Amino acid sequence: MPVIHEHAVMPRPNHDELAEENFTRALAVKLETRLRPRLRGIFESTVKPAFVTREGREPTAREIAKDMRKVNANRMWYRLRTDNQDRMYQVSSAMIERQLDELAATAKAVSGKLGSLTLNPGLDIPGYLSEIDIHRKPGGYHTEFTADDVAAGAQYDRTISVHNMGSQGPHNDDPGVTLAAWIRQRFPALKPKRILDMGCTIGNNTLPYATAWPDAEVHGIDCSAPCVRYAHARANALGVAAHFHQMNAEATTFSDASFDLVVSRILLHETSRAALPNIFRECHRLLRPGGVMLHCDAPQFDEMDAYQASLRDWDATCNNEPFMLTVYALPLEDMYVAAGFAKADTFRGTAPSLFFQQRNPDPNATRSGGRYFFTGAEKAGALNR
Ligand SMILES: C[S@@+](CC[C@H](N)C(=O)[O-])C[C@H]1O[C@@H](n2cnc3c(N)ncnc32)[C@H](O)[C@@H]1O
Repeated sequence: MPVIHEHAVMPRPNHDELAEENFTRALAVKLETRLRPRLRGIFESTVKPAFVTREGREPTAREIAKDMRKVNANRMWYRLRTDNQDRMYQVSSAMIERQLDELAATAKAVSGKLGSLTLNPGLDIPGYLSEIDIHRKPGGYHTEFTADDVAAGAQYDRTISVHNMGSQGPHNDDPGVTLAAWIRQRFPALKPKRILDMGCTIGNNTLPYATAWPDAEVHGIDCSAPCVRYAHARANALGVAAHFHQMNAEATTFSDASFDLVVSRILLHETSRAALPNIFRECHRLLRPGGVMLHCDAPQFDEMDAYQASLRDWDATCNNEPFMLTVYALPLEDMYVAAGFAKADTFRGTAPSLFFQQRNPDPNATRSGGRYFFTGAEKAGALNR
């Protein structure tokens, strides 16, 4: 099975670009499967004992990160991972720049047959998206380089399988496929008629909900115009109907109680401490009684030991993900209660990746450990329709 499914709007690499892209993905796998596990051995055998002797107690995650930054093998890992991240964006930027006008024209040509696209050129892009190049992606998600631009979406589509090392299937939709199956099993009475995916980017994890519930109307929202333009074109290229909107999840324009299921995938950690309560209140407002909210992101720090939590240091200090150290320490379920959900109706768990179970035997060669963590809540009240 190919690593990437080349649909009509996917940027096409030339020979050298494909070779560089494959190298970048292979190096990412090597760094995760060969080098990174050894760093834990160095921590356990030297860094931790030295700390305990010096301080008379176990180190916290932040203290581990600080001490590990002095370890040469770890410094090399930081350098190689950062360089590889930049290489991934350099290769894909060159590929997309070369064919940008053609991509925009193709996206326009395939669009408009299935689902819909609603843009809002006046939308204020939140500072947490506009003030940094998040995870070193040049221009972040929202920057537009040309008319009818789809570059940021095209770059996400081309790079995501490098980032996840091919572990989420050729459509990079395994999280959505896996979570839709989990939701169906956990909430058998839920027959969603309207589903919303917040922070959908290119809709890779939005479309599985349309496949899982073919009678449902599926919506994806994102602040980024080039991403939702691309999402709409990509959905058309793949023959799936969904409705994409340029909209801020903190304040959507949908009516109260207009969705049965509201989901997100790796949205939360790319927002801010101030944005999250707004997003959770919005989820509560949008859900019908008996509806379900589910946010899938990397596991919270209370799901792991201090060493594992310390690994987020690279993301925060080298990869422009400043909110990560805060978000994974937040009491999300308490925040859901503050947004209007009942404590007894909150939940958290992990869903084993369906693609991983079929294909991928080394959990180090995934970014998720072969399972997807989520938190969520049901909105009180009986399903009524
Ligand atoms: C990591 S990407 C999500 C990827 C996608 N859901 C997936 O499964 O591959 C985060 C996305 O959230 C969007 N985003 C961040 N804050 C947002 C907000 N307040 N409202 C809507 N979208 C937002 C960003 O523009 C970006 O496209």
